[in-house]
Amino acid sequence: MNRLELVRVEMDSILLNQENVNVRPEGYIHLYGVAQNCTMLAIKRGLDVEICTIIGLLHDIYTYKVGYVKEHALLGAIEAENLLRDLEFFTEAEIEIIKTAISHHSDKKTKHDKYSELLKDADLLQDSLYNTSFEIKHRKRLKKAYKNLGIKIKIKRVKEPKDADI
Ligand SMILES: [Fe+2]
Repeated sequence: MNRLELVRVEMDSILLNQENVNVRPEGYIHLYGVAQNCTMLAIKRGLDVEICTIIGLLHDIYTYKVGYVKEHALLGAIEAENLLRDLEFFTEAEIEIIKTAISHHSDKKTKHDKYSELLKDADLLQDSLYNTSFEIKHRKRLKKAYKNLGIKIKIKRVKEPKDADI
């Protein structure tokens, strides 16, 4: 089995063991969606495709293993590091790239290294592609990410419907 598939098996098992069954499909959609966006952006930007896909797959590991907390990016970086070390197929340099990108992914306002930036863009693209009528924060970054893919898009600020309107 190649390294990407090994990581998939680990992440699938975390999702399958998620106690809240409603969170499982959300996890599959989000993590696999972000991972594929990472793959596409890595090809476009000339970064390591395998490493980028793994970054996407693991980026919300803390949220889907333990639950959402504000510090999930930092805590997820530690979880991802432990998982990759246990697999014993990754170099220290690769673990560092993955860990760093995951640790930065909530900080979408700051500019970090290329792998961190790729993950942040992939994360926003997944939110946007899931339902284009949902309001997305960081519209400037999202627009730039679409532009990088050759897609010109108008991202309107959408007012969320009140409960009574649903
Ligand atoms: Fe995410």
